[in-house]
Amino acid sequence: MRVILMGPPGSGKGTQAASIANHLGVESVSSGDLFRDHQKRDTELGRLARSFMERGVYVPDDVTIKMVMDWIDDPAHANGFVLDGFPRTHAQAVALDEEIESLGGIDRVLFFRVAQNELVRRLTGRMICRQCQTPYHAQSSPPNTEGVCDRCGGELYERNDDKAEVVTKRIQIYSDETEPVVEYYRSGGKLREIDGEASIDAVSEASLAAVSG
Ligand code: AP5
Ligand code: MG
Repeated sequence: MRVILMGPPGSGKGTQAASIANHLGVESVSSGDLFRDHQKRDTELGRLARSFMERGVYVPDDVTIKMVMDWIDDPAHANGFVLDGFPRTHAQAVALDEEIESLGGIDRVLFFRVAQNELVRRLTGRMICRQCQTPYHAQSSPPNTEGVCDRCGGELYERNDDKAEVVTKRIQIYSDETEPVVEYYRSGGKLREIDGEASIDAVSEASLAAVSG
């Protein structure tokens, strides 16, 4: 099964990706996490991506598409996947359609709807695991031990694009560039809209139902 998770910054894509992928017996990938991994390894792509990400704007399509297609083409992902944060532009959606057309295309697109004031609240209180990228929140989903990941024991940190002014820019770019892509999938009949403001468990339940039914 091939699933796409869409939604604005802070809507819960990363929170839900692993459990949806586990349920389907496939792997998930976040394009943002792939870029952050390149930055950690200080590759040329990582340095290029940083210059866009720290301003809250999208990394150019050509490098983004190549990076994600390399991941999809790995034989380990031949039976399906969950994509978190890709595609975000029309060109990315077209490239993905072409790449997997012969495999039957995308099965489901989950769209997490969350109001802007809640997105800002979530992102400005978020902490992420340096090792496994699990997101936490000081109020909504705190770790058992402060600063330590429940899942793998890794150190928690704040993303440098979660500063208030960059968050506002990310939300604006999302509405300009990615909302049209949401409508593209909605018109194709594969999109399932999920109330992303429900509790994390309720969103998870609705997501699993949407990929099962
Ligand atoms: P990326 O890392 O993908 O960031 P994003 O899209 O802005 O989304 P986030 O990761 O911030 O939010 P999320 O939806 O995963 O929410 P989370 O689950 O963490 O991309 C970063 C940058 O990389 C982009 O700005 C761009 O520059 C570049 N990039 C990436 N992909 C690209 C592409 N395809 N093309 C071009 N450039 C690209 O949850 C947020 C918080 O809320 C957490 O604290 C969590 O604990 C909490 N929370 C989650 N669910 C709930 C709930 N139901 N109730 C209460 N709290 C909740
Ligand atoms: Mg994320």
